[in-house]
Amino acid sequence: MTGRFKELRDDIPVASRSVSRRPPLMKVFLFFGVIALVPFFVIRYRPTSLMKVPLDLEPISNENVSLDGRLLGHFPYSEADPTKLVSVYPGVRVHLDTAKALNEMLSAAALDGISLSLLSGYRSHQLQKEIFFDVKSHRNQTAAQRAKVSAPPGYSEHSTGYAIDLGDATRPETHFREEFHTTRAFKWLQRNAPRYHFTLSFPEGNHQGVSYEPWHWRFEGSADALREFEKARIHSH
Ligand code: DAL
Ligand code: ZN
Repeated sequence: MTGRFKELRDDIPVASRSVSRRPPLMKVFLFFGVIALVPFFVIRYRPTSLMKVPLDLEPISNENVSLDGRLLGHFPYSEADPTKLVSVYPGVRVHLDTAKALNEMLSAAALDGISLSLLSGYRSHQLQKEIFFDVKSHRNQTAAQRAKVSAPPGYSEHSTGYAIDLGDATRPETHFREEFHTTRAFKWLQRNAPRYHFTLSFPEGNHQGVSYEPWHWRFEGSADALREFEKARIHSH
């Protein structure tokens, strides 16, 4: 060692020189120690998305979880396109496909001496909200009790414009009552409604858990209507 470097080295006391120099064996230990810790840090701080889901988890209980989108037994339905709604009776609108079939059915019933009353058709989500919650409150009912006879807003077939409520004009006391099934009008519907593509939505013992509604019929005479009610149809048996 010569020149300026020698001068610098010579400035360091001999004792310090020997302490600052690490034995090569120690460096080897340090190196392998750090390498050995790498897997630990990789596992500890890996992204959550890469972690495996434990396979021995208890399955989530689906007792109260509706996997098919139902709410209190009712399937979700969007509101009908307003441009597709037509008025068939003062204050009652339905989808134009429903209207055409309904008019044919009412005419055929009249020819057989049956006077069908159209009690309701399309309902907006807002109207359904009032019907569900206001009546629920007035009757001091739980949501589950109310849902036996009325769908929550966003879950009524009436929102589609394809559902109608029918009555017997000669037996108004049976309107919206189970006794409607004793009327001539209902018996005529049972025999003839399929010809006009109307189906009883909530027969006795239906799998949706909705009370028997002999007055509530839905139109299933177009691909759009069939698609709307596909889930309800699958779950009806
Ligand atoms: N009454 C039937 C269930 C409805 O509210 O859509
Ligand atoms: Zn109805």
